[in-house]
Formats: sequence, C-alpha cells, structure tokens
Amino acid sequence: MISADKIPNNVNLSGNKRLQRALEHWQPKYIQWWRDMGPQGFQDYHQVYVRTAVSVDPEGWAHFEYVKLPEYRWGIFLADPVHDRRIGFGDFFGQPVWQEVPGEFRNQLRRLIVTQGDTEPASVEQQRWLGQRCPSLYDLRNLFQVNVEEGRHLWAMVYLLHSYFGRDGRDEAEELLDRQSGNRDKPRILEAFNEPIDNWLDFFMFTMFTDRDGKSQLMSLSESSLDPLSRTTRFMLTEEAHHMFVGETGIARILERTCQLMKEAGFSGDVRKLGGIDIPTIQKHLNQWFSLSLDLHGGEVSSNAASYFANGLKGRAKEETYDEHVVKDAHYRMEFFENGKSVAKEVLMRNAMNEVLRDWYVGDCAAGVARWNRILEQYGFSDRLQLPDRKFNRHIGMYSGFHFDPNGVPLSAEAFESRKSEWLPTNADSEYLLSIMAQPIYEPGKFANYIAPPRRGINQQPVNFQYVRTEA
Ligand SMILES: [Fe+2]
Ligand SMILES: [Fe+2]
Repeated sequence: MISADKIPNNVNLSGNKRLQRALEHWQPKYIQWWRDMGPQGFQDYHQVYVRTAVSVDPEGWAHFEYVKLPEYRWGIFLADPVHDRRIGFGDFFGQPVWQEVPGEFRNQLRRLIVTQGDTEPASVEQQRWLGQRCPSLYDLRNLFQVNVEEGRHLWAMVYLLHSYFGRDGRDEAEELLDRQSGNRDKPRILEAFNEPIDNWLDFFMFTMFTDRDGKSQLMSLSESSLDPLSRTTRFMLTEEAHHMFVGETGIARILERTCQLMKEAGFSGDVRKLGGIDIPTIQKHLNQWFSLSLDLHGGEVSSNAASYFANGLKGRAKEETYDEHVVKDAHYRMEFFENGKSVAKEVLMRNAMNEVLRDWYVGDCAAGVARWNRILEQYGFSDRLQLPDRKFNRHIGMYSGFHFDPNGVPLSAEAFESRKSEWLPTNADSEYLLSIMAQPIYEPGKFANYIAPPRRGINQQPVNFQYVRTEA
C-alpha cells in the first residue's frame, strides 16, 4: 500500500487519489523489475548505507540509513517552484510557464520524457553484475547509491507520465519496465544504454561521461516551459552530481594507483605485471564512453532540436547566461565533412541546438580530464589522458558514415579497422580487466590492488566503515 511515508514526496500524493491509484498499480511491477534486473545477489540479505531523499531541503537530502535495496523508499520530488516563472527561450519567450501540457506539444513532450526515462532503468540493468566484482565495500555502496537514484529518476519520469499524459502516459510507464538493455527484440532507446558494463573501469567511465550527458540533458530540460518537468529535472540534477563524483574520483583513484605501480615497476615497466591498469587501457575506455556519450546528444543539424527550442520544450544549458533567447536569425559555424575534407558552414542556430549542448558537454568533460592529468603530473609522468576529437567513433550524426583517428584525421575504413585496437577496448583488454576483478572485495577498509582508497568516506564515516553489511 502506498503512503506518503513509503513514498516520500512533496507532490501531495495522498491528496491526489487518481495519481495515487495509478502509481499503486505501477509500483509492484517496478519492484519486480528491480528484483529481476537490479543489482544481482544483493536483494534480500544485504543492507546498504544509502542516502534517501526525504525532502528537497538540505537536511532532508542528507538522510543516511541502512536499507535493503528493494525496500529503498523511492520518492517523488520536485524542486521548489520559482515565483512567477516565465518561459526563458523560444517563440513564447516571456510568457508564464505552463502547469499543464499544451495539446499541440503533447507528443513532443512525451517523447522527451520517455527518452530521458528510458535511460534510468537501462543503466541499472547495465550495471547489475558489478557488485560481484567490486573493488571495495565503499565502491559497492556508491554503485548501489547510483542504482537506487537512477531508479528514483525513473519514478520521477513515471510521475510526469502518469500525471500529465493520461492513458498514453500509463502505457509508456509500463513499457519503460518492458524494454531491456541489450535485448535484441526490445532494446533500450539509445545505443549507449545497450552496451554492457561488466567491469569497473567501464562503470567509472560511464558515470563520468554518460551520467554527464544525463547532466546536460537535465540542464536543458530544467529550462523547459513545462514547469513540472523543469522542477523535476532540477531536483534530479542534485543527484546526478554524485554520480559524476563517483566516476571522476573512481578514475582518479585508478590513476593514482597506476602511478604508484608504475613507480614500483621503475617507470618503463608493464603495470599489468603488477596487477594495475595501464594508461593506454584507461585512454581506450575514455575514448569509448566519451564518443558514445557524444552520440547521445543527437545529430549536429536537427529539425527536432530546432522545434524543441522554438516551442520552449528544451533549452540550452544555463539559458540565462545567453544574451538572446529567441534565437531566430542567429547562426552557428559548424564543421561539415564533405568529399574527404572538413568544410566550415553556417547553419541556423536553432537547428544546431544539439551541437550547442554538445559544446557545453565537451567543455565540462575537458575540465574533468584536466583534473585527472594533474595526478599524472604530480607523480612526475609525462603521459596525459585526452578527449578524442568529436568526430572519432561516431555512430550518430554527420560524422557517422566516416572514420577518423582520435585526433580527428580522416582515415579509410580499412585503416581504421586495422588500428582500432589502439584506440578502443579489445576483447583482450576486457579479459584482463575481468581477471583482476574476479575476486570481489567485501572486507571493510580493503581495496583491490588496481585502485587507491578514497581520501575520505561517505557522510563523514571512515573509509573502513561497513558500508554494506549482511543481515545477522
Ligand atoms: Fe539519472
Ligand atoms: Fe545518473
């Protein structure tokens, strides 16, 4: 039975019987999905020290407790309303925001919400075996924190579907539990969410780069004229920050350990001989997840993106920092690839909105990579990680039919194929990673050999805290 207590919320759920009934109907299916497709082996006998949002204010936000995962209290939270909020961009600039979905934009909004919603359970599915190979209890807890919050993000999108899209919305909510990451017949909507994540290097790169795509999408949706969508995504952003923290610090800790092992090996030695993860392998995984996440931003020239912007459905990240918000006549200079050459051309800015968001994303990623490189520098190594050129390894958009090396130099398909193993993870790399992760580490305070401990624990607990415990 659903109660405000079971589903913490600030949407007055108990005062809306119709919605409450709809969610009551959906909830058991969600729990079944979580059991079948969520963290494998950690459903019934483990308690995890997780943060549960019980309200949107800072205290309610920092509520930590041990819970069994299927008993996590997935809540529904909208950020507080902004008084007299006005539409911030597009053709309706300056008008009051909408509290209901306008009929003419119903399909577009539904599509945006379903596409966002689909990524949330997808990532839980992708990550469901990682607990069996965790490098420490601290990391295991972080994985589960990310997983339960992605579950909550699904709830957030399902809340919008049930509240504003009637029957169609209810059907979409069911289908969100029906599609499955990597399933041949019913795959998840976006490609990056069908890729397996079976080792922790992939997991950290995913939370660094793909959750950061989540951040850029949520930032653009938080500008939306549909106020409930804006408020929902604004609160989701606060959780997303933790996911990227997990990714960025996870890689930073691997790098730190790699540096230590390289020193032990006498700089020129093979880190793999000491059970670490060598820098070329780290770079290849970076290349893989960065390029997949670039694809998630959609085609460079997009009439959909133009229409979303014109209609005020999806804006630019930090719209208020721009001088001009209608963007009718402005142009964007873009690099096309024609007859084997790059050609710069102007396109209408509205048609380039995916690329504008991608620019923001690339900048945010680059700042993170620069922070990683400081570790290599501190240890006195000259190696550096770098973001590949945005044309590299693309499967969506205007570069997708061509091949480029990580510096953006065009190559023939044959040349790309023959050098691909230098730039993208190979089966041998995956096998190696699985071999060093074969033994999970469940002892408090102990860490796998390939990763350094974090500087501090979670919620001011010590690093050797029992972040996950089995029931007595
Ligand atoms: Fe999410
Ligand atoms: Fe996330």
